[in-house]
Amino acid sequence: MSDTKAKLALGGESYEFDVHSGTLGPDVIDISSLYASTGAFTYDPGFTSTASCESDITFIDGEKGVLLHRGYPIDQLAEKGSFLETCYLLLYGELPNKSQMDDFEHRVTHHTMVHEQMNRFFTGFRRDAHPMAIMCGVIGAMSAFYHDSTDISDPRQRMIASLRMIAKMPTIAAMAYKYHVGQPFVYPKNDLSYSANFLRMCFAVPCEEYAVNPVLARAMDRIFILHADHEQNASTSTVRLAGSSGANPFACIAAGIACLWGPAHGGANEAALNMLSEIGSVDQIPEYIDRAKDKNDPFRLMGFGHRVYKNYDPRAKIMQKTCHEVLGELGITDDPLLDVAMELEKIALTDEYFVEKKLYPNIDFYSGITLKALGFPTTMFTVLFALARTVGWIAQWKEMIEDPRQKIGRPRQLYTGAPQRDYVPMDKR
Ligand code: CMC
Repeated sequence: MSDTKAKLALGGESYEFDVHSGTLGPDVIDISSLYASTGAFTYDPGFTSTASCESDITFIDGEKGVLLHRGYPIDQLAEKGSFLETCYLLLYGELPNKSQMDDFEHRVTHHTMVHEQMNRFFTGFRRDAHPMAIMCGVIGAMSAFYHDSTDISDPRQRMIASLRMIAKMPTIAAMAYKYHVGQPFVYPKNDLSYSANFLRMCFAVPCEEYAVNPVLARAMDRIFILHADHEQNASTSTVRLAGSSGANPFACIAAGIACLWGPAHGGANEAALNMLSEIGSVDQIPEYIDRAKDKNDPFRLMGFGHRVYKNYDPRAKIMQKTCHEVLGELGITDDPLLDVAMELEKIALTDEYFVEKKLYPNIDFYSGITLKALGFPTTMFTVLFALARTVGWIAQWKEMIEDPRQKIGRPRQLYTGAPQRDYVPMDKR
C-alpha cells in the first residue's frame, strides 16, 4: 500500500481512500468502503477503469504491447517452452524443474480419457450442432460425471478437478469435432504429447494409420500457449463471478466457455476468417475499410482492436510467424485469404482511422488462417481457444477460491426505471 491517498469531495464532504500499488501497472484506488462512508456507488459500465480483484498470475501493458505470465514474457514462453509447461507455471506460479515437469505431464496424460458413458451423452445433440454448443453442455455435464472433485473447500479435490479439465478438454473438444463431422471418436494415446495427441484425436480415422506431423504439433502447442491466459477478460471474469458463489469448477468453466463464444471475444477468430472469405480478394479491401469506418454501418474489421492493447498485440506477432511456418510446412504458397490478410493489415496499419484509434491486429487475425491450414473448420476455432484458455480460467478460479478475502461478486447499478408505484388491476389499465 502506498502513502498516497485519493481524495473525494462529494456533497460538501471530503473523503479519503487508500491507494494500492501493484508490482507493475497502474495504482488502484480502494473504494471498497465508498458506499458505507458516502452512500454512493461508482459507475463503470464495461469495467474500463475497475480492477475486480488482486491477482499475481498475468500482467498486460496494453500501451506497450506486453503480456507476462508470472513475470515471463509470452514470446519467450511460446518460443522456448511447451503448453504443459505454461500450464504448470500458471497453476503453481513457477516454471517446473525436470522432475516436476515429468510428474505433471504424467498426471495430465493419465487423465485424458473420459468416462465411457459420456460418449453417449454426445448423441443427445443434433448431429450438426455447433461444437461450442456441445462444449458448453458437455463441460457443464462433467460435474454430473465426476462428483468426487466438486467439493471446492477441499484443496485435493480442487487440484483433481483442475487436472481433469486440462487433461480431458482436448479429448472432449476432439469428440465435439468428430461428432460434428460424423466420424467415430478417437481415443487418446498417452505416448503422444498433449498437442500431438489432440491433432490425432481430431484427424485420425480408424481405417488409416495417422502420423502426427511434428511441425504442426509444435504449431498447435504454440497456439495453445498464446491463448492460455489473458488476465481479467470477459470469460475469466465470468468464471470468477460464477465461482464466487461457490459453484463447482466444472460449472464455472462451462460459464466461461459460454462467455467466450461471443464474436467480440473468442468468437472473433471464426468471425475474422469468415470476414476474410467475404472480402475474397485484395481489390475488395477498400470497400470493406470504408464500411469499417462508416458510423452508420455496424461492420467492424474482425481481428482488429482490443480493449486493453493499444499497440500491436504481442500474441499476434508470434501467431503471424506460426501462420507462415504452418503454411510453409504444408506447401501452401498462394492462399488467397493470406493475401487478403497481409494487404488488409498493411492498409489498416497506415490508415488514419485505425492509427488514430490505435486499432492493431489482435491474435484472432492470424489464428483463423493458421487453424484453417491445420485442417480445422471455422466452427472449431473458438473451441480451440476454450481448450487452451481452460488452464487460465482454472488458475484464476483457484486463486480466487484460495484468497481469504474472497466473497460473492455482487455489482450494484444506477437504477433508471420507474419509481415505486402501486399495482393497477388489469381492467383499469
Ligand atoms: N473495426 C472498426 N472500428 C473499430 C473496431 C474494428 N474492429 N474496433 C473498434 N473500433 C472503433 C469503434 O467503432 C470506436 O469508434 P468511436 O470511438 O468512433 O465510436 C472505437 O474504435 C473504440 O471501440 P470500442 O468498441 O469502444 O472499443 P472496446 O474496447 O469496447 O472494444 C473490441 C474492443 C475488441 C470489442 C473491438 O475492438 C472489436 O469489436 N473488435 C473486433 C472483434 C475482435 O477482433 N475481437 C477480438 C478481441 S482479441 C481476443 C479476445 O481477447 O477475446
